[in-house]
Amino acid sequence: MTITKPSEIIFKSENLHKHFGALHATNGVSIELRAGEIHGLIGPNGAGKSTLIHQLAGTLKPDSGQLFLQGKEITSLRAHERVAAGLARSFQVTNIFGQYTVLENLLLAVQAATGSSFKIWRARDSESDLLVKAKALAGECAIDRSLWSAQAANLPHGEQRKLEFALSLAADPMVMLLDEPMAGMGPDESLRLTELIESMRGKASMLLVEHDMQAVFRLADRISVLVSGQIIASGTPDEIRHNQDVKNAYLGDESTEAA
Ligand SMILES: Nc1ncnc2c1ncn2[C@@H]1O[C@H](COP(=O)(O)OP(=O)(O)O)[C@@H](O)[C@H]1O
Ligand SMILES: [Mg+2]
Repeated sequence: MTITKPSEIIFKSENLHKHFGALHATNGVSIELRAGEIHGLIGPNGAGKSTLIHQLAGTLKPDSGQLFLQGKEITSLRAHERVAAGLARSFQVTNIFGQYTVLENLLLAVQAATGSSFKIWRARDSESDLLVKAKALAGECAIDRSLWSAQAANLPHGEQRKLEFALSLAADPMVMLLDEPMAGMGPDESLRLTELIESMRGKASMLLVEHDMQAVFRLADRISVLVSGQIIASGTPDEIRHNQDVKNAYLGDESTEAA
């Protein structure tokens, strides 16, 4: 997908609220994603980052507030309808069918994205456009060719993560929501995924929740800081690094120096 107006707001939430009993987990969150940007979402454990991502993706219903994708309100759309509208959420292990091979998983995703999701896959489709697309995604996401015929359940953790990323790309999303994609990865794997995310800059907007501050500050075009369910600052990595409220509430002087 080519995005021509980089400053365009592609996705936004307005005044989202979510309570869990007495806990105000999302407290008036308005966040804007610009076309093609990598937008970091950081904040302490329990700040409400995952809760927010769930509401953006449609897997959790906000108590109040609105969501807009390319100016169209999508608040009432269900998760799969949001995917069809161009909003992808990655790194849900449940996206992978463990008993199928890497290529079969990708074929299913490509097929779903082209709208023929209920068609049964047949051997004579093997050289079809779908397969070409599936292989292209596997290549783009640097999934080792020797693993393309391996059962997805047997992949090393890092390769599964890349497969999940590739699956979410099958629908050619405008917006990708990534909740701690590097979690549980070793340094090499996490570097490769960082490069993959980097390679998507400009092609899709990404909201990236990540606790590795060095990775976020290196990758993000802009960063929003969530503390106790509220966005306390949004800005460029430099602005966030030097923001006194952010330093007080979350990043100590030490971690800002390190970042
Ligand atoms: N389904 C739920 N029911 C009750 N409380 C929840 C639920 N999901 C999250 N919480 C609480 O909401 C707060 C925010 O959690 P979460 O969004 O997971 O934070 P983060 O991802 O920033 O670490 C936490 O206090 C957490 O315990
Ligand atoms: Mg979380």
